[in-house]
Amino acid sequence: MCGIVGYIGKREASPILVEGLSKLEYRGYDSAGVAIIEKEDIKTTKCKGRLLNLQEKLEETPIKGNIGIGHTRWATHGEPSDRNSHPHSNEDETISVVHNGIIENYLHLREWLTSKGYKFVSETDTEVIPHLVNYYYKGDLLQAVMAATSKMEGSYAIGVVCSKEPDKIVAVRKDSPLIVGLGEDEYFIASDIPAVLNHTRDVYLLNDREYVLMTKDGVKLFNEEGEEVNKEIYHVTWNADAAEKGGYEHFMLKEIHEQPKAIKDTMTSRIIPGKSITLDEINITKEEIENINKIYIVACGTAYHAGIVGKYVIEKLARIPVEVDIASEFRYRNPIVDKNTLMIVISQSGETADTLAALREAKAQGARVIAVTNVVGSSVSREADDILYTWAGPEIAVASTKAYETQLIAMYIIGLFFAENKGTVSKDELEDLKNEMLSLPEKAEECLKHKEVVQKFASKTYMHKDMFFLGRGLDYAVAMEGSLKLKEISYIHSEAYAGGELKHGPIALIEKGTIVIALATQEDLFEKMVSNIKEVKTRGANVLALALEGHEEVEKTVDSAIYIPKVNPLFAPLLSVIPLQLYSYYSAVQKGCDVDKPRNLAKSVTVE
Ligand code: F6R
Repeated sequence: MCGIVGYIGKREASPILVEGLSKLEYRGYDSAGVAIIEKEDIKTTKCKGRLLNLQEKLEETPIKGNIGIGHTRWATHGEPSDRNSHPHSNEDETISVVHNGIIENYLHLREWLTSKGYKFVSETDTEVIPHLVNYYYKGDLLQAVMAATSKMEGSYAIGVVCSKEPDKIVAVRKDSPLIVGLGEDEYFIASDIPAVLNHTRDVYLLNDREYVLMTKDGVKLFNEEGEEVNKEIYHVTWNADAAEKGGYEHFMLKEIHEQPKAIKDTMTSRIIPGKSITLDEINITKEEIENINKIYIVACGTAYHAGIVGKYVIEKLARIPVEVDIASEFRYRNPIVDKNTLMIVISQSGETADTLAALREAKAQGARVIAVTNVVGSSVSREADDILYTWAGPEIAVASTKAYETQLIAMYIIGLFFAENKGTVSKDELEDLKNEMLSLPEKAEECLKHKEVVQKFASKTYMHKDMFFLGRGLDYAVAMEGSLKLKEISYIHSEAYAGGELKHGPIALIEKGTIVIALATQEDLFEKMVSNIKEVKTRGANVLALALEGHEEVEKTVDSAIYIPKVNPLFAPLLSVIPLQLYSYYSAVQKGCDVDKPRNLAKSVTVE
């Protein structure tokens, strides 16, 4: 949560910082601010609300200078307000700090600093940082930041400027992402790559507790012992357009339309007819696969829903028992893990605090961990034993769409890979499944064509306050994802239920006009699902059904129907989720919601 940026170079810092923040707004957007060194002083402008408010303020009263830091906030400690916005400074405003993360011992530090005469003006945890740096400052900003961070517990990516050393930015990360952009005679820090992509594609991906000292002459990196560190430059291969709207009204709509390509990219070089599945960054041996006695798939939100599909797929194909856990639950429930346990963590950002903590917990207990992530160099990718990157490209909309699709592909790849190694699926069947997978991008493209039916249904239903999503088997997993999408961007309350579970309680809520979205793509469960649909229809529900082509008879039972291309039902989630994503999108648009930046949410949840 929160995005930080920093710039040092020859150009005016203010527009570069604001532009960088605009690329990080997905990380938080309840307030924003910048601190720029103007001549020998730090000038700060910050305010509650969207970045636009900050931009207006900076237009009214520009700050001139070539060195500065910026922040876009998702409030944790202290309500969104001008006072709680970053950057925060020490009392005489000679030191200014932007921070992403949580200082867990801030209350203790605040008391201690108060006893030393320091005065606090905000309710944030962050404000202890400039005061601590001030406390340790003896003429060397880097040394002072090192001393200050040695007292800080929790997670942080921070950028610091000091008017007594007006030619420097010092930065460091621990458990919160931070990269360094290397331009021509100009340098950047940022929470994420898109913030610097308009200026450079060469970056350093920092490790925890690596300190950055940036001047106009270059960047030096140090470890916590103060020794200089040499680091490889990571060259970003995707370009800035990937993080732009490209003519779409919203990032979410663009990302929904990018799904066929994302699916294809994630399969490329991994799924090849006639060839064994090769996974470059997974080094697990055939023997180790045979010894796995249990798999935990651990993730949060949408990634957790991809994990539920993963359970069905891996159990079916590789016959290994799989448990799916919400990361925040897994980490505290003392799970049974040993050296034959495999954990698969799924995380688009690779920075979700709970997922990372669950990964560490499992590793500490001896499990092997595979990370499925979309961000190269992210924390989960560094800490896991093996990595399967999802090549979705940058996902900017807060609501996850294309990352989910690629996470599903990752689940199929892992399922097939294990099945191939264990011999649980015949060679012919394996080839059929691979060929079927390769047809998915085209079929996903077909699903995008349902836009009009979906839009029409959304225009009739967007004023409803409650809805239900029903499904059996894999359809139930997709129902959960459809329900989450609807909640998060259109603020319509919805529940997902397993079709068979309906009569054990929730059916009491069905009355005339209740909206029910019923998924019926699983051939072997189709008739049972139709019975469930009849149960809600009899009680007056207005039903939209999703079925495979060839099952047009469902129309006799429902009010509207959408058909997805015929596919092996194992892969149906990839296709059936698309109309559901479009449905939540058009419902949100009809309601006038801020689709890409839903209230109270942030894309990357780096706090517990
Ligand atoms: C929903 C959504 C969230 C994320 C969740 C996990 O649309 O985006 O539920 O899926 O916060 O995030 P990652 O995958 O980055 O760990």
